[in-house]
Parts: sequence; C-alpha cells; structure tokens
Amino acid sequence: MNTKEKIIQLLNYAINAPSGGNSQPWTFKISDNKLTILSHPEKDNPVLNFRFRGTLIAQGALIENIIIAASHYDLEAMVNIASDPNDQAIAQITFNDFQVSPDPLYSSIPKRFTNRKQYRDKIIPKEILTDIFNMANVLGGSMVNTFFIGDKNKMAIAGKAASNNEIVMLENKVLHNLFFKEVIWNSYEEKIKGGSGLYIKTLELKKPQEIVFRIIRHWPMMAILKKIGLAKFIASENAKIYETGGAMGAISVNGDSHENFIMAGRVLERIWLSCAKEGINLQLMTGILFMWQKIMAGETEIFSASEVSLIKTSYEQISSAFNIKDGIITLMFRVGYSENPSAFSYKKEPIIISS
Ligand SMILES: Cc1cc2nc3c(=O)[nH]c(=O)nc-3n(C[C@H](O)[C@H](O)[C@H](O)COP(=O)(O)O)c2cc1C
Repeated sequence: MNTKEKIIQLLNYAINAPSGGNSQPWTFKISDNKLTILSHPEKDNPVLNFRFRGTLIAQGALIENIIIAASHYDLEAMVNIASDPNDQAIAQITFNDFQVSPDPLYSSIPKRFTNRKQYRDKIIPKEILTDIFNMANVLGGSMVNTFFIGDKNKMAIAGKAASNNEIVMLENKVLHNLFFKEVIWNSYEEKIKGGSGLYIKTLELKKPQEIVFRIIRHWPMMAILKKIGLAKFIASENAKIYETGGAMGAISVNGDSHENFIMAGRVLERIWLSCAKEGINLQLMTGILFMWQKIMAGETEIFSASEVSLIKTSYEQISSAFNIKDGIITLMFRVGYSENPSAFSYKKEPIIISS
C-alpha cells in the first residue's frame, strides 16, 4: 500500500470524531504524503458556534484520530495548523514512514459515541480517572487544562447549570428554530442528509417526551407552552440525567487563539477514547459555555435580559463546582457506566476533493 492509499484508509477510520450536531464540518485534499483538512464552519449552528470554536474543537478531535490511526499504518503524522484562523485549509498533515508502536487507543476510535442515557452511579476506579486526567493535562500542556469532579453535590450543581441551556434553547425563537432544524426525525431522513444533524433516536427521549418534542418543534406551540413553564420542566428533567454518572469533566483553554480550541478538541478526543476503552460512556453538555462566550464578547442581541442573566449565573455555577479560576471553560461532560445508547450517529464517507 502506498502512502496515499494508507491516508485514505486511515481517514475512513478517523472521521468517527465528534462534532456539534454531528455536522462533520470537514472535507479533504490529498497530495503525495500530505493531507489538507478543509474546514466547513457553515455546517455548524451559526449562533452557538461562536467564532467557529465548535468547528475548531471538532477539527481537533478529528486531528487526534488521524494521528492515532496513522501510528497503526507505521506513519508519523506531523500537524501544521494554519496561522490564519479563517483559512479554510485549517490544518495540513504530513505523513512520513516511521516504525512507531501503534497507539493503544486506535481500536477505541469506532467504539466512541455519545450516550445520552441515564448513567449508573457506579464509581469509576480512581486510577482510571487519574491516568486519563494526567494524560489530558500532558497533551494540553500550557494551552488547555482538564478538571474532574466526583462529588455528588457538585455534579448536581453543574448538571443543573448545564441543563439551563434547554430553557434558553427552547424559549428563544432564534435558537429554537436553529435547534429543530438540526433534528433528524427518522432513519430515512438521516441517510438523505448524510448523517449531518441530530438523529432523534440518539436523544433518548421516552415515547411521551418524543410526542411533546414533535409538537414543540413548531414555534407557535412552543410560544404558548413556554408560558406554562414547559422549557423549565424539560430542563429540570434533563438535569436529573445530567447529574448521573461516576464523574464530570471540564476542559478550559488558556488563550482564545484557534490553536487553543483545536487542542481542546484533541484533548477531548483522547479522554473520550480512553473512556471508551474502559467501557465508560460520555456525554458533552456545552450550550451554556458557548452562549457565555458570545455574551462576554458583547454579542447579546439575540438574548433577552433574563436569558443573559441565566447564562451568566449558570456559567459561574459550573466554574465554581469545578473550582476553575482562569481561562475559558469550553467543554463540560459527564462520564459513567450505562447500557448502550438506543442509536448511533451516522458518519458520512470522507469527501476527498481532487487537487
Ligand atoms: C463542540 C461540540 C459540542 C457538543 N455539545 C454537545 C452538547 O451540548 N450535548 C450533547 O448531547 N452532545 C454534544 N456534542 C456531541 C455531538 O452532538 C456528537 O458528537 C454528534 O452528534 C455525533 O455523535 P457521536 O458523538 O455519537 O459520534 C458536542 C460535540 C462537539 C464537538
């Protein structure tokens, strides 16, 4: 197999990376031993994807998968991130033949998925969490820090704060429309859309919840039902799920350059794969964090005053639960043991543009 064939094979594997709403915001170019990742931030939620940071995190996760998969093909991957954050060719990876020992996380790449089910309260062995924590902080270096909490009270506070996302997402007309545009209602539609979007079965709604969900996708219905507190009720139900699990994690960046967010994605992916290897599930809960970044940059137009205040309070609750004093918290997640998810997100084959 020549290097180009190896790159194509490993790419097919590496694209099983997480992305906001399963947007899979990437296409590729290959020439000789070089792979260029082309970024497609337009595929991500235009409000939540503040300064394309969600897209950059997804690119980071993809890059980490590529580095891991390359080791399996005796290739060393040298990553060069574009200096201009708006460059569509966000990263170029050069592969060289090199006898490296295969990364043990390779086989976990296809086993990584989002699980939005309730998790068991079973404790995760301390050594596993410590190893993951150390690995994440070594990779993150001075750019990214990782934090874990296992205290049930703190997890309940952070989970409740994260669930306030649902209040804003459902009660704010702009965000409501964007969210429901992302939902894929059946497996047929999922295939047509090539997987991009949130497949309803992965949301783990119970039958009555799914019926309500189908009703409130129409804004006039939501506008009426928000008056009787439906969004708050949904958020409080979700908070009960978010607080379950063995631990919660958060990832903060120490600077606001695009490279920090790509590194956050790389760290996230290594944590996620390490969890998958141990049979531990993970769910991200990030809405509040992205909305907060937008508000801090003065972009408050789409939010009401009470939404701004709820987002700020929720972010403060998350940072104090994790005792994070510096940087920007950009990702938060829960980890734990659980039964398998009801469905998996569809991944489209890599689109390789001929150069
Ligand atoms: C930047 C970013 C933010 C995300 N935020 C959330 C979130 O708030 N809630 C959630 O359930 N999943 C979140 N996800 C997970 C994606 O929805 C998920 O990765 C995608 O639907 C594909 O599914 P998979 O992880 O099973 O491959 C996020 C992913 C990324 C990359």
